[in-house]
Amino acid sequence: MILAPSILSADFSNLGNALQLCDEGGAHYIHVDVMDNQFVPNLTIGPPIVKSLRPLTVKYMDVHMMVIHPEKLVEPFAKAGADGITFHIEATDKPKEVIDLIKSAGKDVGLSLKPKTPVSDIEPFLDKINLVLVMSVEPGFGGQGYIDGSTERVAEIKQLLIEKGLQNKVQIEVDGGIKLHNAKEVIDAGADILVAGSEVFKADDPIQVMKSFYSLENL
Ligand code: DX5
Ligand code: ZN
Repeated sequence: MILAPSILSADFSNLGNALQLCDEGGAHYIHVDVMDNQFVPNLTIGPPIVKSLRPLTVKYMDVHMMVIHPEKLVEPFAKAGADGITFHIEATDKPKEVIDLIKSAGKDVGLSLKPKTPVSDIEPFLDKINLVLVMSVEPGFGGQGYIDGSTERVAEIKQLLIEKGLQNKVQIEVDGGIKLHNAKEVIDAGADILVAGSEVFKADDPIQVMKSFYSLENL
């Protein structure tokens, strides 16, 4: 299991400290929530922030673009130092072009779907991507509740990947409302990567919470 703390829930006045906490907590990924106040009703982080954070960590920068016209931000985030770039299937009518753009930038390709989006919408692209980002909250904010039925969706996507022989090529990342109390269920359903924002950064001891996530897998 890979933990991807979302810095959306961190103290934006001291993101360097958030990265330091992730280092000490042993998280593998840094989840960067990009919002444009168009695709979602919130405005957060752009390429300059990723550029300033890049030299502070060797961890995998997992950029989650909740934006319209994702094709316009692929190169800026790639140049800023993203390792993986994920866009939403709902945000473009040319997903294949966005996938190719991310690939030509030499980055891992993630495709995300909102809770109400049918899995069939992403099926045609599964053999072209590295990651499916399953939203277990409506995108836009940290600190929301895990949507019932999300675990079943993870299992459905896992099954689809297995049927297509893609289970070792495409990872499943689950994002939204992930807590220590529901993480094991999500992992058992087939998740490879868990995003946790508020559970980590709103905790009294973020480092201990991150370590607790990693101990779950052995339960
Ligand atoms: C929501 C973001 C999530 C969110 C996770 O639109 O994509 O990554 O920050 O935060 P929690 O873990 O608090 O739900
Ligand atoms: Zn996210």
